[in-house]
Amino acid sequence: MSRILSVGSYAPTKVLTNDDLSKLVDTNDEWIVQRTGISNRHIVSDGETNLDIATKAAQIALAKSGLDKEEIDCILYATITPDTFTPSMACQLKRRLNIDRKNLLAFDINAACSGFVVALETAHHLLRSYSNILVVASDTMSRIIDWSDRGTCILFGDGAGAVVLTQSNFNPIFHSFTEHDITDSLKTNSIYDEHTYLSMKGTDVFKFAVNALTTCIRKELEEANTSIDNVDYILAHQANVRIISLACKQLGINEDKFYKNIQEYGNTSSASVPLVLAEMVEKKMLKKGQTVLFVAFGSGLTYSSCLWKLEGDIE
Ligand code: UT7
Repeated sequence: MSRILSVGSYAPTKVLTNDDLSKLVDTNDEWIVQRTGISNRHIVSDGETNLDIATKAAQIALAKSGLDKEEIDCILYATITPDTFTPSMACQLKRRLNIDRKNLLAFDINAACSGFVVALETAHHLLRSYSNILVVASDTMSRIIDWSDRGTCILFGDGAGAVVLTQSNFNPIFHSFTEHDITDSLKTNSIYDEHTYLSMKGTDVFKFAVNALTTCIRKELEEANTSIDNVDYILAHQANVRIISLACKQLGINEDKFYKNIQEYGNTSSASVPLVLAEMVEKKMLKKGQTVLFVAFGSGLTYSSCLWKLEGDIE
């Protein structure tokens, strides 16, 4: 039921290097690169909002889709860092994009770093009733980072990605999981506290992430009754290069199947998978007929994946 017509992405221009972070907390470039694979992250400037960066990504995706903006009849916005609780970011984006039509469904999805893949699954089902869906995944993690906590502040960055989906005969295979986070390993404190910050038990999340990645990949291959050789690329959530390496070892997969851009953006939460997709499209790595596997995991605990055959080139 779904085809990806186009993709857009945007990362704020302000860059925070590992050396910049070593002036804020007791850390250094060598440790961060070795333990995570991250060198830079892009973060919003004062006054720059989640909606600002999402709009830029959405405008690119819309322009490349070949559709008129009034042909979009549904907007899904995945985020855990909305600028406001209400109106939803999806409603605000409709207004910012000057989409006039009223018969349009718009709502936000809170599924943390799994947000983009969860939004794809949601869009896929909605495409039975809607014609063209704009899926946006945008997070400003820098707004909820405790900049004195070296366990988290080195990991995250801000970014936005967007895709335009349309109806087709193709049915991607989705798998979504929700697990109890029994050690409260990845969460924010109450939104009613003076400041809301993300806290993380890194080792617990690391183990969960490797298991999430391997479980999803195994499930996808099993259900499609295929082997990894028939998957051209895995577009995975960019959380830590060591998570990908360990999952590859456990599955016996060559790491070249995974595209990585974590070195430049860090973990951008829901935006990380579409940032990968946009970069691969930009580099002309994806072609009609290929099969790609999207997979992401995060707070909840959630993990989601889908096996997607590219029915046409993605613009
Ligand atoms: O979207 C999903 C969200 N998050 C994730 O997927 C993250 C999953 N977790 C991780 O990526 C890793 O657990 C971290 C990168 C957060 C931490 O790496 P680690 O290899 O698990 O380090 P660790 O917490 O076991 O700490 C090892 C050592 C400790 O020192 P001692 O006790 O061995 O002397 C830490 O105090 O590294 C120290 N350390 C640091 N040193 C320099 C911890 N953080 C830092 C730091 N800079 N930023």
